[in-house]
Amino acid sequence: MRTGKVKAIVSNLVIVAADGAVAQNEICHIQLGEIFLKAEVIKTVGDDAYVQVFESTRGMKVGDKVVFQGHLLEVSLGPGILTKKYDGLQNDLDKIENIFLNRGTYTDALDTDSEWNFIPLVKNGDVVVAASWLGEVKEKNIPHKIMVPFILDGEFSVKKIAAAGSYKLTDTIAILEDKQGNETSITMLQKWPVIKTLKGYKEKIRPYKLLETGIRIIDMMNPMAEGGTGFIPGPFGSGKTVLQHAIARQAKVDVVVVVACGERANEIVEIFTEFPQLDDPQTGGKLIDRTVIIANTSNMPVASRQASVYTGMTIAEYYRAMGLKVLVLADSTSRWAQALREISNRMEELPGPDAYPMDLPAVVSGFYARAGQVKLVNGADGSITFIGTVSPAGGNLKEPVTEATKKAAHSFYALSQRRADGKRYPAIDAIESYSKFLDYPELVIYMQQTIAQNWKAEVVKMKDRLFKGHEAMEQISILGDDNVPIDYHETFWKSELIDFVILQQDAFDSVDSFTSLERLKYMQEKIAEICEISFRFSAYEEVGIYFRAIINAWKQINYSAFQSEEFKNFNSQLDEILNERK
Ligand SMILES: Nc1ncnc2c1ncn2[C@@H]1O[C@H](COP(=O)(O)OP(=O)(O)O)[C@@H](O)[C@H]1O
Ligand SMILES: [Mg+2]
Repeated sequence: MRTGKVKAIVSNLVIVAADGAVAQNEICHIQLGEIFLKAEVIKTVGDDAYVQVFESTRGMKVGDKVVFQGHLLEVSLGPGILTKKYDGLQNDLDKIENIFLNRGTYTDALDTDSEWNFIPLVKNGDVVVAASWLGEVKEKNIPHKIMVPFILDGEFSVKKIAAAGSYKLTDTIAILEDKQGNETSITMLQKWPVIKTLKGYKEKIRPYKLLETGIRIIDMMNPMAEGGTGFIPGPFGSGKTVLQHAIARQAKVDVVVVVACGERANEIVEIFTEFPQLDDPQTGGKLIDRTVIIANTSNMPVASRQASVYTGMTIAEYYRAMGLKVLVLADSTSRWAQALREISNRMEELPGPDAYPMDLPAVVSGFYARAGQVKLVNGADGSITFIGTVSPAGGNLKEPVTEATKKAAHSFYALSQRRADGKRYPAIDAIESYSKFLDYPELVIYMQQTIAQNWKAEVVKMKDRLFKGHEAMEQISILGDDNVPIDYHETFWKSELIDFVILQQDAFDSVDSFTSLERLKYMQEKIAEICEISFRFSAYEEVGIYFRAIINAWKQINYSAFQSEEFKNFNSQLDEILNERK
């Protein structure tokens, strides 16, 4: 094993004089007395290795011993990942007393003693390649596929496959033979590098299917596709975390990877305590059963933030290869970008805009590109949908992280300070926000078939009504209430109606928080019906009073289960109000 000695220490960046060639991104351990600190090579110059240490370098001295490990930063993959809470280095946070590890402590990511009921999916003589399914175990509600390790190359024939039965993670469940007759034994545990992607699928295909979140302003007006990407920029306190958690709870997917990266520690404690208690309406189990949480709080060293987003994505790629729909959420990717900036500055690299590294846009788009809908090696479909939040300082959407992310992501959910201040939640700005999936014919056809034939036309009309309402409001505030035609008030209040009953949604109410596609169709039709009516008003004062009554009646509907008795009663009340002025 190659070794080296610490030559210089600049906070988490350490220069190591190595006694031989080391590889880019290779992992090394720096010995501090009794403990070993994990670090990653980020640059080499001759025999000098620049390494970023994943923990505090407090007490480290020039001359300390370094041992290179001969592999990149890896994650352990196998049954048992779901429900786990990891840090960025895949330490199991439940295996330690305090959620913040002592330096130099590393835990097993998976429980190597656990036993799993294995069912073979191949027979002797079958030909397999990397990512082929060899067998299956039941992990919570997921048929967890045991796959040919992704790092293997070429075709193999199955020489031996374990019979159905109970096995440990590290038991051999198959022996594969390559064309030259070399044998490889396979267990249920694989290790993958996190930064370098392993393909493990046949091809990427265009996203075509809606990813239902139950959040109206997303599903109806700015849809997310399975295998798509999106991001949520917004100033501090505008509701990014609340929105991401609502998506994590509600999205119709099989597996959710939540990466909590560098935000406040109390938020992380919150997800740790909240998720295990929540029921999953789709399976009847608990939400945590389909979830893995990767948490790095702001008091952990910056290098581990970068590790956490990559660890999250790699776990998602593993589950995608089982033919599952995976959702990855990262909050906040700005903290990750700031970590890249700190390291780059310490390395004294030529800085780009706002001192971020020059290659920030490439790093961000490379990361977003790992999401996607794929055809697997056996022809099945799998997807990773990725949604990140960005916290631009002062809400400035022109800053480098937001700009780089805007180029990489397909949908954009801009949170507005003004809406958050007015408690109009979710504070997504319907005019600024967009989804490029609205222009994907496949997705439009899907929505036409599942919601309504005129779905897209109605979305365009609704956005237009919001825009016109905004213009009318500006005219009214410049010219005065009674110096504009009554029509202006009607136009404004129609947009307020859309805002209050469609855009605004109570994330904390069990009925209102999730709107089904069937219910969206009803809402879209009802809004269209009301907005097409020219109501009879004789004074501008009447308009606001009347629309407030409509909004109140409709809000009662929103809090009632779809098509329940209650729902129908409130709906008739709404119809009565509408009949008054038709
Ligand atoms: N959808 C919502 N419904 C009700 N309150 C919300 C909603 N979104 C945000 N809030 C309020 O705003 C606060 C800040 O939201 P948070 O998601 O933590 O902001 P950010 O992550 O952007 O800093 C929350 O604690 C909550 O009180
Ligand atoms: Mg937050």
